[in-house]
Amino acid sequence: MTPTARVRPAIDEARGLVDLELDRLLPAADLYPQSVHRAMRHSIFAGGKRLRPILAIESGRLLGAQDAVLVPLGAALEMIHTYSLIHDDLPALDNDDLRRGQPTCHRAFGEATAILAGDALLTLAFKVLAQLPALSADAGVTLIREVATAIGTPDGMIAGQVADLEASHESTTLATLELIHRAKTGALLRACVRAGALAARAPLEDLDRLTLYGEKVGLAFQIADDLLDVLGSTAELGKKAGKDRPQSKATYPALYGIEESRRIARKLVDEARAALEAYGVRAAPLREIADFLIERTS
Ligand code: IPE
Ligand code: IPE
Ligand code: MG
Ligand code: MG
Ligand code: MG
Repeated sequence: MTPTARVRPAIDEARGLVDLELDRLLPAADLYPQSVHRAMRHSIFAGGKRLRPILAIESGRLLGAQDAVLVPLGAALEMIHTYSLIHDDLPALDNDDLRRGQPTCHRAFGEATAILAGDALLTLAFKVLAQLPALSADAGVTLIREVATAIGTPDGMIAGQVADLEASHESTTLATLELIHRAKTGALLRACVRAGALAARAPLEDLDRLTLYGEKVGLAFQIADDLLDVLGSTAELGKKAGKDRPQSKATYPALYGIEESRRIARKLVDEARAALEAYGVRAAPLREIADFLIERTS
């Protein structure tokens, strides 16, 4: 059985729980003002691998947190990720027409509604984080600070998105490329893993191990995304393939070539797996997710 096949049951199980929770948390499509609620639901339920919730849930489970807190946590993280995709696809950013196999949010609902649907998902996510059950006020604030830091600027996703837009593959150094990828994508993935651990009130040594795992898989994930843009198909990806080169995007394949990019991603995943050694078989789901992140075809 391939690692991809082995990880499917874990992904499907967590995905089912998170999807039910998202449906419960998002405003109903027929609730006024309907356009923004329909747009939020369009992008959330268009598909998506739900990898960020899965990372948070499996990290939290490993360290003893309960699903009652991990599932809404995962749903909030998926809202943040989906907001980032809606805005990433806008004409002013990557200007994409297809996402998760469906028209992008601005294609389906217009630019103004798409911008506001993204804002609404981001805002709702923080409301959900503020209401997580069974967490002390202190633990809740720590978790909210963790997520806010990871998705803002100067250390998080927004910083990375700005740097991505301003970079081109002709003039970007290898060091800057790594910084962009760590910020635009790695920071949220790292925060998902850490949020799961924080929900478990994990001691520092566990948090440090999981942080290392999250950093390694976070960078490996975006390298795999860059590789799929070159090697994957639009049908399988559910988003347009081959769009990075015409836009002169700074990517691993553009700067390192395909084979070296693959080697770097594999090495990062091996290091991520090694960070979990202390947990033995209990960390099998997180190890399999790490493999899946670079072996996926969508
Ligand atoms: C795509 O993320 C955007 C990046 C950060 C590279 P995913 O590949 O996780 O997208 P979905 O959620 O499955 O649609
Ligand atoms: C997206 O990176 C990163 C964020 C959404 C924060 P990309 O621009 O490479 O993602 P895709 O390829 O459009 O999914
Ligand atoms: Mg982008
Ligand atoms: Mg994009
Ligand atoms: Mg991409």
